[in-house]
Amino acid sequence: MDYAAAIKRLRQEKNAVIMAHYYQRNEIQDVADCIGDSLYLAQQAALTQADIIVMCGVHFMGETCKILCPDKKVLVPDLNAGCSLADSCPADKFADFVHQHPGYTVLSYVNTTAAVKAHTDIVVTSGNAVKIVNSLPKDEKIIFGPDRNLGAYINAVTGRNMLLWDGACHVHEQFSAEAIVKMKQEHPDAQVLVHPECKKPVVLLADKVGSTAVLLKYAVESACQTFIVATESGILHEMQRQAPGKTFLPVPPETSEANIGCHCNECSYMRLNTLEKLYLCLRDETPEITVDPALIGKAVKPIRRMLELSK
Ligand code: 13P
Ligand code: SF4
Repeated sequence: MDYAAAIKRLRQEKNAVIMAHYYQRNEIQDVADCIGDSLYLAQQAALTQADIIVMCGVHFMGETCKILCPDKKVLVPDLNAGCSLADSCPADKFADFVHQHPGYTVLSYVNTTAAVKAHTDIVVTSGNAVKIVNSLPKDEKIIFGPDRNLGAYINAVTGRNMLLWDGACHVHEQFSAEAIVKMKQEHPDAQVLVHPECKKPVVLLADKVGSTAVLLKYAVESACQTFIVATESGILHEMQRQAPGKTFLPVPPETSEANIGCHCNECSYMRLNTLEKLYLCLRDETPEITVDPALIGKAVKPIRRMLELSK
């Protein structure tokens, strides 16, 4: 069956928009109406005129769409597509942490559940976190959750001392400085692109640190021809498409020599979505993301604040 053709037909019939994150399988990126980082996908969801949004990404991305567009049907091809980082921050424990620190402004990374966002003042993504933190008064006391690596990076860049939740992403924690140093020895002219969810020794080796969209833009515009890429390897598809003459080298995860055939630089959650599941979800209009309306009322405020501050 030609899933791509069937998806395009159904999309038109149902006035649906297909959004995909850069970590999606290549064939999903190829049929999507828009692909982007978490910030861009949220911005597009807030603007869309479509009746149905199919979010080819992970659960929190679908939730963000539903919170921004409560009257639209929001589908995710596989509802099991979670996020280890979001899982590292249970809402009840985060609420306790917030209550233990009165007087703090609460910033949460978009990689969180709606319930965590409901305890948040401003949501951020890796694409706007530095800008948003810099927009706050210098003496503002800030809690940042859940990614300890992104939080430490923002602290270093902005000179703040945000209180950090101790969470992390299982994919980005796999990249090691040793692997990158080894690759630099083999490709001395290559520039190193790093997502800020990586650990500090990896971030310190970067020529550019940023969200997936920031790294992509840098790779396209840089005069450099070869790049060592320390983030989920799905981004290489769009990098290669936008800069066909350049060479992109994915950093092998720390464990790859020990685990021959391991794909630890792929997010197992993101990869749960397949072209067939995308077709079926568009055809059957399920599985659908639902969020308690009371929770939507609370979680929409910090997301809208992020969108305002990102303009
Ligand atoms: P971006 O906002 O950079 O796309 O990152 C999302 C994500 O899940 C990174 O692991
Ligand atoms: Fe979550 Fe990490 Fe996957 Fe991004 S790569 S969706 S942070 S588990």
